[in-house]
Amino acid sequence: MSDLVKFRPGLENVEAARSAISEIDGQRAMLEYRGIAVETLAKESCFEETSWLLMKGELPTQRQLAEFDHALRQSRSIHYRLKDLIKCLPASGHPMDALQATVAALGAFYPCRTVSDPTKNWEACIRLIAALPTLVAAFARTRRGEEIIEPREDLDHAANFYYMTFGREPTPAIRKVLDACLILHAEHNMNASTFTARVVGSSLANPYASISSAIGSLSGPLHGGANEEVLLQLEEIGSPEKVKPWLDAKLAKDPKHKVMGFGHRIYKVKDPRATVLQELAEHVFAETSRPKNYEIALELERVCAGVYGPKGVFPNVDFYSGTVYQALSIPTDVFTPIFAIGRVAGWLAHWLEQLNGNRIYRPEQEYVGKKNAPYVPLEKRP
Ligand code: ACO
Repeated sequence: MSDLVKFRPGLENVEAARSAISEIDGQRAMLEYRGIAVETLAKESCFEETSWLLMKGELPTQRQLAEFDHALRQSRSIHYRLKDLIKCLPASGHPMDALQATVAALGAFYPCRTVSDPTKNWEACIRLIAALPTLVAAFARTRRGEEIIEPREDLDHAANFYYMTFGREPTPAIRKVLDACLILHAEHNMNASTFTARVVGSSLANPYASISSAIGSLSGPLHGGANEEVLLQLEEIGSPEKVKPWLDAKLAKDPKHKVMGFGHRIYKVKDPRATVLQELAEHVFAETSRPKNYEIALELERVCAGVYGPKGVFPNVDFYSGTVYQALSIPTDVFTPIFAIGRVAGWLAHWLEQLNGNRIYRPEQEYVGKKNAPYVPLEKRP
C-alpha cells in the first residue's frame, strides 16, 4: 500500500474533498463564498440569495431569486403530524436533539430515497432550508407550553423565523442582524459537520439523513456549542472591571487557560465574521441598549490581545454572536440551532457537490489491536 497516507489525528492538513464552495485564508482574515467576500455578502446580500449562491455557484438573476424565494416561502409549513412529533418531545430536551430528530423525520414525510433526480434533490434542498426555522421555532414554543405559530409567506426568511419564535415581527435592525448571522454562519468549508454531511451523502443516503447527521455533529461543544460557553464565561466574569483579575486568576491556575470564543484552527488573526457581527451588533444595541455582557466582551478582547495575540489567538465568530442573540432575548440553548438554520445552506451545497462525481468515503485505518487471539469458551473465561 505505497499510497497510504499516515494517520493524522483530526485529519489535520488532509484534503478530504476538492471543493469550489468557499475559501479561507487564516492569515489574512479572508473568507469567501464562491469567490465573494463574506463581509460583502453580510452587508449587501440576504440569506436567500447567499444560499442560492452557495448551492448553484453563481449569484441568481432577479427572476431566479424571486422564484427561489417564492418556493422557500411556500415550503415553510410542516406536516401536522410532524407538529405532533414535536409536541411529544420532552420539554427538557436540548433543541439540537429535537432538531436532529425532526429533520430526520422530514425524510419520512417528504421521501427522497433516491438521489438520482436533480429536480427532486433541488426540491429537498428548498424544503430543508425552508423548514429548519419552522422546526426550531416550533420546539422553542411547545417546550414553553406555547402554541406553534404558523409561518407567514409575506415575511422573508429571517423575519419569519423571528415572528414564528416570538409572535411579533422584528424591527429592521433586528431583522438585518439575524439575516447577517445566518449568512456569516452559512458556510465554512471542511469543518466537522460539513464533512459529516459529505460522508453520509457519499453513501447516496437521502438528503434528510445527511443534514440530520450534520446537525448531530454541529451539536458538540467543540463545534457549534461554543457560543453558549462564551455567554457562561461572560456571566462568570460579571463586569468589565473584573476582566483583568478574572484572567489573571485563571492564568495563575493554568497558564494554558482557554478563553471561550477565542482561537481557531485556521484563523490566526481576528475572525472576519466576528468583525462584521460586531458592526451589525452596534445597530441592534442602538435599539435594545448595549448589554453588559457586550461591554465585558469588549474589555476581554482588549485584555486578551496582549496575552494571546502573539500566539495568533483572537476572537472567533462565536465570541460576539451569543451577546447579540441574548440581546434579542433568544434562549442560550437556541444559539446553536440558529447556527444550523444558516449552515444548512453550506451543508446542502457540499451535498450537491459531493453527488456530482461521487465516490463513497472509505478511508483506511492503522490497526493497533491484537492478532491471532484465541476464542476462549464462555465457561472457561475468568
Ligand atoms: N484561549 C487561550 N489560548 C488558546 C485558545 C483560547 N481560546 N485557543 C488556542 N489557544 C492556544 C493554545 O493554548 C495553544 O498554545 P501553545 O501553543 O502555547 O500550546 C495554541 O493556542 C494552539 O491551540 P490549539 O488548541 O492547539 O488549537 P486548535 O487549532 O487545536 O484548536 C480551537 C482550535 C478548538 C477553536 C481552540 O482555539 C479552542 O478550544 N477555542 C475555544 C473554544 C471555541 O471558541 N470554539 C469555537 C471555534 S469557532 C467555531 O467552531 C464556529
